[in-house]
Amino acid sequence: MLRFGSLEIAGPALLAPMSGITDRPFRRLIRRCNPSAVGLYTSEFISAEALWYNSQRSVLMMRSDPDEIPFAVQLFGRDLDRMVNAGEMAQKAGAQLVDINCGCPAPKVVKRGGGAALMREPEHFSQLVEAMVKALSVPVTVKLRAGWDENSINAVEFARRAEDAGASAVAVHPRTRRKPYSGDADWSLVARVAQAISLPVIGSGDITTAEQQKELFETSGCAAFMVGRGAIANPFVFRELAAARAGEQVPQAGKGERITLLAAYAELLAEDLPRRAHLGRLKNFANRMVSPWETPELRRRLLHCDSPERLLDEVRRTVETAA
Ligand SMILES: Cc1cc2nc3c(=O)[nH]c(=O)nc-3n(C[C@H](O)[C@H](O)[C@H](O)COP(=O)(O)O)c2cc1C
Repeated sequence: MLRFGSLEIAGPALLAPMSGITDRPFRRLIRRCNPSAVGLYTSEFISAEALWYNSQRSVLMMRSDPDEIPFAVQLFGRDLDRMVNAGEMAQKAGAQLVDINCGCPAPKVVKRGGGAALMREPEHFSQLVEAMVKALSVPVTVKLRAGWDENSINAVEFARRAEDAGASAVAVHPRTRRKPYSGDADWSLVARVAQAISLPVIGSGDITTAEQQKELFETSGCAAFMVGRGAIANPFVFRELAAARAGEQVPQAGKGERITLLAAYAELLAEDLPRRAHLGRLKNFANRMVSPWETPELRRRLLHCDSPERLLDEVRRTVETAA
């Protein structure tokens, strides 16, 4: 059985944290599409700074469902006291694991020393992990990038530091902050991290198929992996990967299933969010989900939809007429 510290992880395929995507409705959708096939659900990243000021929006982002097990909250920030406070709030809200974001490339995050900027401050990083581990009773993990840029690939050093500071697992998205999502993820770096520490290592980047899953287990030495964009493009991906691990065949989700899914997601969003926010999230998801049929024209039309109903109609029309 896979464990991160004291926490049992239900399987090696984990849902990657994605800002603007992995909110409670999306995680519900993923659960519905992939019963028992997701090892860990993680929130979007949440600002420790905002939680310090008790921002209700950020507090609500920590909500989870009783059957969402195990559930992790990911936090970003630099300040020790604020991160510890945020960790305590997450724990109180029901998080069974707290993850520290050390990979976000967004200027508004790194300008304040959080996200990927933590990978420029080794000593501070160690102190932060240590303080979080000491203060929290749930396991603490970190999610690293390869490093800040191509001249400072330091994920191995930071993974060792995380282990020394008491973290329970280390995730690595093997790209630098300067190349947020371009180029192939460098899985040989995940392998080097897995060799360097004895904690479970989680690889993150570009996994969407059973073949990739097989290759990464054979070559990287990682204990688990995350799926991010692959779960937006194909929300059934976890059940397909689980079937492949069990040596079974599972039919790929068809166009009709995906449209039904978008409608279900719209309903789940409506339960959780005010209509305006709901439409924004739906557009974000639809834009990514329609990638197999995407055209600049479709993107433009989706952007201009002024209601969830209209957006669903647009996607339905496009997908049904596509080859
Ligand atoms: C829209 C989007 C939002 C993301 N937000 C976060 C985040 O909040 N925290 C984080 O650690 N990584 C975030 N990531 C990075 C993913 O967790 C993942 O490491 C990366 O996308 C590579 O995996 P993939 O190829 O499976 O998508 C985000 C990625 C995307 C595409």
